[in-house]
Amino acid sequence: MHFLEISQLTVNEITTLMQRAFYFKSNPQAFPNYNQYTVAHLFYEDSTRTRVSFEMAANHLNMSVINVDLQHSSENKGETLDDTMQTLAAMGVNIFVIRHSQDGVPEHVAELGHGACVINAGDGMHAHPSQAMLDMMTIIEQKPHPEHLKIAIVGDLRHSRVANSLQCMCAALNVGELALIAPELWQPSSVYYGHVTTSLSDGLMDADVVICLRVQNERLSTTEYMDMTYYRANYALTSERLLLAKPNAMVMHPGPLNRGVEIDSNIADGPQSFILEQVRNGVFMRMAILEYATSSTF
Ligand code: NCD
Repeated sequence: MHFLEISQLTVNEITTLMQRAFYFKSNPQAFPNYNQYTVAHLFYEDSTRTRVSFEMAANHLNMSVINVDLQHSSENKGETLDDTMQTLAAMGVNIFVIRHSQDGVPEHVAELGHGACVINAGDGMHAHPSQAMLDMMTIIEQKPHPEHLKIAIVGDLRHSRVANSLQCMCAALNVGELALIAPELWQPSSVYYGHVTTSLSDGLMDADVVICLRVQNERLSTTEYMDMTYYRANYALTSERLLLAKPNAMVMHPGPLNRGVEIDSNIADGPQSFILEQVRNGVFMRMAILEYATSSTF
């Protein structure tokens, strides 16, 4: 099975994946053995946590892991991405985990028909489904009824594949309220679920979960640059602003963090922060996703 975006999963599949991830988390001595599978990691864009997390997940499942060194691959000699995939599949790679700066590349690779499964580890500004899965896992672990929750996502929503996948996730699980908070320039280009606001105080008011996004300078066009003093003054997550949310509100961030830009260190490292729990859960969730990829029916 390919794992390309949240909207392609049924609610039942989402729930089963989460249950499986929770099972792995509580049964670290009983991981299943998938040693007949080989997974190739193809990260055409920088990554620390997603790549390491997928690698650890594959190791826990006893899969063979190939980290393709794209700095020194034959693509530098003019080979196309399609040929690289066909070549690796012919060698026996069963699962591709792909990150790419261009929207739609994982889907394209899935359509090549080489017989291997494709997992989307983040494509351009389009989707980052494994991140949305681990984010929702972290939320449900603390607050098990998403239909009663107000979730606020704040920051550069326009360029955020994480926020796109989270919108689909919130739609699938019928989240009570989803506030998408961003300055005009960074509002999402399409909204599947939730409501957009420019007001941080309206968006944060009584929120159960606050998800802060990174200012993604590398994804901005020249007309989309923002004055960081203005951004901090109006949108940064500070202790004072967090008081607008519910007293036990969870603070989350997909990472990497720009401390002192979109989030203050005392919040990121504070008692309401679940940022490291997201990272921890990511390994178990990716184990569930890799296992899902090996199944013909789920
Ligand atoms: C995100 C990504 O790469 O899309 N990070 C991640 O995978 N944990 C978010 C980001 O880049 O800001």
